[in-house]
Amino acid sequence: MNEQAVVDAVPLPALIIQSDERISHANAEACKLLGEAILRRHFITGLRQPQLLDTIEATIRDRSERQTRYLTNDGAQDTAFRVYVRPLDTSVLVTFVDETSLEQAGQMRRDFVANVSHELKTPLTALMGFIETLKGPAKNDEGARDRFLSIMETEASRMNRLVSDLLSLSRVEAEERVRPTTPVDLTGLVKSTIHSLSTLAEDADVQIRSVLPDEPAIIAGDEDQLRQVLVNLIENGIKYSGAGTTVTVSVGPVAYETRLKGDGIRLSVKDSGAGIDPVHLPRLTERFYRVDSHRSREKGGTGLGLAIVKHIVNRHRGRIRIESARGAGTEVTILLPV
Ligand SMILES: Nc1ncnc2c1ncn2[C@@H]1O[C@H](COP(=O)(O)OP(=O)(O)OP(=O)(O)O)[C@@H](O)[C@H]1O
Ligand SMILES: [Mg+2]
Repeated sequence: MNEQAVVDAVPLPALIIQSDERISHANAEACKLLGEAILRRHFITGLRQPQLLDTIEATIRDRSERQTRYLTNDGAQDTAFRVYVRPLDTSVLVTFVDETSLEQAGQMRRDFVANVSHELKTPLTALMGFIETLKGPAKNDEGARDRFLSIMETEASRMNRLVSDLLSLSRVEAEERVRPTTPVDLTGLVKSTIHSLSTLAEDADVQIRSVLPDEPAIIAGDEDQLRQVLVNLIENGIKYSGAGTTVTVSVGPVAYETRLKGDGIRLSVKDSGAGIDPVHLPRLTERFYRVDSHRSREKGGTGLGLAIVKHIVNRHRGRIRIESARGAGTEVTILLPV
């Protein structure tokens, strides 16, 4: 058997250790992972990690297959491998399967479930507390009953909003690969969205201005989703800027955009609020990320808005940029290909 041909045919880092305990063959992937110098070395000096060495030693001894883990760092990030050690004639074949993305996906799923449960548990705990009080101590207190019921209504609608945001996020994610095709006029969309948010803006004493081209700005898009983008961005501008500020929504002309490598339209929502500390900017589009979670929650925020926006923009093959500095307001710019 040509052992070099065997390791070369394996599409993963693979190496062979002979009965003299030296690494006799390694494929290019293994050399890349462990260094060229492992060839012809004793496996103990070539591989080093105690757990892996024990496993190989045991298989050399009793000729039965085993597996273990191998952790490494390529300078940029940790990588986790599952290592299979199997007997081969008189030698031993060792292969490395990269499980990093699998582990990351698992971690993300656990974080996500933990976040969702936490977000749901807070209003639920409040609701249960009030129900308990209404059944007992406040049973015949009409004033307390009305007050409690309206708090309960707020908490229940928070849960409702969270659940619909979650559903909307998973819908957008599910169809992210399908590029939308219906023609949408951004100018008209901005006008009608601003109109639908005018009461919210008035109540918060925030002015909404728009800078729009005279003619329609048509792109291939999904109108409902683009409306969702605008609603969240304008709502954020209103919610986080405070009374007396202005939110400006603008739609630019069609122009060549280097970031899109083609023609695109620029859509921007800018506020004159307190701004966001730059340290937060890279994480704003993560699910549940809030700069000041107490303040945001108070305003009914779930921290899912910008995550949804990002997925919608991705689906439209667009780009999103958030610029802000403390005291200088926030501007979110979206480039959409035409
Ligand atoms: N225009 C803005 N000015 C200041 N802070 C902002 C602005 N937009 C977003 N943020 C911050 O970014 C966080 C994330 O925004 P995002 O829209 O994702 O969530 P949310 O508004 O808290 O909740 P939701 O949009 O689901 O109601 C907000 O909690 C807020 O702290
Ligand atoms: Mg929001």
